[in-house]
Amino acid sequence: MKKKIILGNWKMHKTIKEAADFIGKLLPYLPKSSNQIGLAVPFTAIWESSRLATGTSLKIGAQNMSDATEGAFTGEIAASMLKDAGAQFVLLGHSERRRIFHETDAFIQAKVTRALQEGLEIVLCIGETQEERRRDFRAVLQKQLQTALQGISAFQTKSIMIAYEPVWAIGTGKVATPAEVQEVHSWIRECFQKRWPQETARLIPLLYGGSVQPDNISSFWKQPDIQGVLVGGASLHIKTFIEMVQS
Ligand code: PGA
Repeated sequence: MKKKIILGNWKMHKTIKEAADFIGKLLPYLPKSSNQIGLAVPFTAIWESSRLATGTSLKIGAQNMSDATEGAFTGEIAASMLKDAGAQFVLLGHSERRRIFHETDAFIQAKVTRALQEGLEIVLCIGETQEERRRDFRAVLQKQLQTALQGISAFQTKSIMIAYEPVWAIGTGKVATPAEVQEVHSWIRECFQKRWPQETARLIPLLYGGSVQPDNISSFWKQPDIQGVLVGGASLHIKTFIEMVQS
């Protein structure tokens, strides 16, 4: 059986107490297998969440960070601070960051480099809009991948996961079909194989995100190139999240 990865992305939801309640309820349901469960929580909840997750297989991560090490960047947060608070991974390039906060591929690349330097695992999010899907969506994804992963060595890929999240499927209830995702993932894999040694490329986890729910999650596990899912809305409710963990 392949190892599966389920990451929740809480976005701007949950206070420290709400995070702690959720994690307390989740811990007894964590898989004993090598399957991996993680939560990208708000900055304010990282410390308490990672304290509660210590000694368990639950990974706690952040949803964004600065590309700078430190300095006069009011309101920003550094990778070293995330590490210090207990984060193990960080989401980078989420479509909401790209769209609402105008993050460019080059900016995301700077963050990728910084996160890896600081020893954080990264989940690089890529995805096309509905309009781009009609045109040449592979070109869009290729540019996002190529720019963000510029200069990444084969060794560094051990700390990288890719989350393919078509923008049209995020928070819309319009889920991509497992076959559609498989097609994109196998193409991403081929791109990686042209760049890094086959074995290295084969091991980079490819996740799907966009309206994943308890009733559709299992359909993704059947596809050979889908190693995991990144779940937004459905990760906020303990009952639905446990259902997904048990899938
Ligand atoms: P969704 O969000 O599951 O609510 O569609 C996914 C995401 O934004 O990562």
